[in-house]
Amino acid sequence: MVQKISLTRYLVEKQRADGLIPGQLRLLLEVVARACKGISQAVNKGALGGVLGTAESENVQGEIQKKLDIIANEVLIEANEWGGHLAAMASEEMDSIYVVPNRYPQGEYLLMFDPLDGSSNIDVNVSIGTIFSVLKKPDGSPGVQEADFLQAGTQQVAAGYCIYGPQTTLVLTVGNGVDMFTLDREQGSFVLTQEDIQIPADTKEFAVNMSNMRHWDEPVKRYIDECLAGKDGPRGKDFNMRWIASMVADVHRILMRGGVFMYPWDKREPEKAGKLRLMYEANPMSWLVEQAGGAATNGKQRILDLQPTKLHERVSVMLGSRNEVERLAQYHAEKA
Ligand code: AHG
Ligand code: MN
Ligand code: MN
Repeated sequence: MVQKISLTRYLVEKQRADGLIPGQLRLLLEVVARACKGISQAVNKGALGGVLGTAESENVQGEIQKKLDIIANEVLIEANEWGGHLAAMASEEMDSIYVVPNRYPQGEYLLMFDPLDGSSNIDVNVSIGTIFSVLKKPDGSPGVQEADFLQAGTQQVAAGYCIYGPQTTLVLTVGNGVDMFTLDREQGSFVLTQEDIQIPADTKEFAVNMSNMRHWDEPVKRYIDECLAGKDGPRGKDFNMRWIASMVADVHRILMRGGVFMYPWDKREPEKAGKLRLMYEANPMSWLVEQAGGAATNGKQRILDLQPTKLHERVSVMLGSRNEVERLAQYHAEKA
């Protein structure tokens, strides 16, 4: 019989084998996974659990919060604040950082999350997820402040997401490839179901919200126009399109079968770098994609190299199959 490897066993064995997962980080990842199980349960209950619909509040980005945005945020905080592995947390749904209260020991890690990604899909029963990113608190800094979080994506020590879809699946990197775990509901544990995920370098599939096309910058328009031209155009092949409007679900598809995902800067709000958030969405997803052999850029620069200037910073995002992302970067460079 093939033995199933639980997330717990995987983390213990990884810690032993290559020292990539120190004890506190192992606890952190276990706790995040447990929180995701809780969120998954709430998502599954849907209307029966009274979790659908809108809350009467707005987040710092001026977006109306859904009940599940708030529930998922609370689940993650409650699960993580007492374990002694964290110094502080930051979330898309909180204006400022959440420092671990004095009554608990403080650890050396910083946890950031998009507690519920794809909020517009909650009430229509389409896949949504949780995205997380882990940094180390800079050495020697007393206490903890927002500035401690402003580290480039290259500094991440762990990142991942949990997708609540037909299956609940956790996808994780600690800088040594990307592995995937599927929630076994009878056992109540995540089980390793795919190791060393690789994104094919080429693709015939793109994901972008086409309704924004008229607002895009020229290099993005050029890239999509060429895809749309299909076999008879400069690319010489037909492309397919998918747009789920949950970054988690679109990126998951790209990890499974390749593709390119974009939420580029556009002219609607020119002063905004993009829609997606650097710390909770772009950095963890970019690292996962790079760890799976893909690439991620804002058009001008590798996303993981960007120096964040504020917690809720936004960024233009293009990621996925390496050759497509390089082509996009090249079109941007030619324009510049
Ligand atoms: P969130 O629900 O955390 O605010 O994120 C939604 C994001 C992302 O998941 C998705 O790719 C994109 O917004 C969808 O935007 P549009 O509705 O503009 O297509
Ligand atoms: Mn999101
Ligand atoms: Mn969200």
